[in-house]
Amino acid sequence: MNTVLVTGATGNVGSEVVLALAGKANIRAAVTDVEKAKGRLPPGTEAVRFDFEDASTFAGAFAGVDRLFLMRPPHISDPKVIAPSIEAAKAAGVKQIIFLSLQGAESNSIVPHAKIEKLLLTCGVPYTFLRPSFFMQNLTGQHRDEIRQRGEIFVPAGRGRTSFIDARDIAAVAALALTEDGHENKAYTLTGSEALTYDEVAQILTEVTGRPVRYANPNLVRFVLQKRREGLAWGFVIVMAGIYLTAALGRADGLTDEVPRLLGRAPITVRQFVQDYRSVWLS
Ligand SMILES: NC(=O)c1ccc[n+]([C@@H]2O[C@H](COP(=O)([O-])OP(=O)(O)OC[C@H]3O[C@@H](n4cnc5c(N)ncnc54)[C@H](OP(=O)(O)O)[C@@H]3O)[C@@H](O)[C@H]2O)c1
Repeated sequence: MNTVLVTGATGNVGSEVVLALAGKANIRAAVTDVEKAKGRLPPGTEAVRFDFEDASTFAGAFAGVDRLFLMRPPHISDPKVIAPSIEAAKAAGVKQIIFLSLQGAESNSIVPHAKIEKLLLTCGVPYTFLRPSFFMQNLTGQHRDEIRQRGEIFVPAGRGRTSFIDARDIAAVAALALTEDGHENKAYTLTGSEALTYDEVAQILTEVTGRPVRYANPNLVRFVLQKRREGLAWGFVIVMAGIYLTAALGRADGLTDEVPRLLGRAPITVRQFVQDYRSVWLS
């Protein structure tokens, strides 16, 4: 069995990659704090300290690793911070790097994902790029409290449609690329099967939770001011605003059939996702 190092193992996608690899690989979870991560990993998972910003953690994490699941933590926007870990992975003999990128990264040179893809293209280690659309898990993560406490989704996406994907589907594809041959030097744009407006998402949340949820549809200025009042950093708010502006302009609605092609089943729908995580908004 391959030994796989999973970065972001406590995050939306990495945590699902760990679950999807169970029994298929020797899993090593890369975490910034081994003690803290214990309760967030499946019992018995090997955890190793790894910090993109601390090169002294690289050798121990990469020793004996065959394949790497690489993600960029959202607060690290400078690809130069990620570059040393890619070099260290190469030096340690890692044979393939599966990178969690972003839908459209190939035609958007501004986003950090595009720059990291470039680093991987030139580093000489076989790569697989996973380019997912918006995560459904944003609804249980960053939007959970506004849905739970105020019964609203507060994003400036206008009436644009978004092709959401469930992190579990991304992880299932990652698990294939991390355990099978044939995915080397390929890029997969991963989306769900439907592009929905936030009005439609709010309607699904209302129907499934039994509590009214509305789409607030704030303009960009209102959104930025509100997020700043909530204490979010400028950089993060600007990135969020940019992402939702893309949706408002109708550029986040692209669908692909990569998930059914690779997994042999339909992607998880937003309704299924909301049913599976219903209790998150009710607790
Ligand atoms: N949200 C979306 O809709 C969307 C769509 C497409 C692409 N993406 C991309 O997906 C990525 C985020 O993935 P995610 O949502 O799975 O992550 P996430 O849930 O935000 O979790 C962040 C992870 O980063 C790890 N981390 C933080 N600082 C670190 C450091 N200095 N060194 C090593 N690890 C560190 C954390 O690990 P510890 O707990 O160990 O600190 C945690 O597991 C971003 O690059 C984002 O742009 C997101």
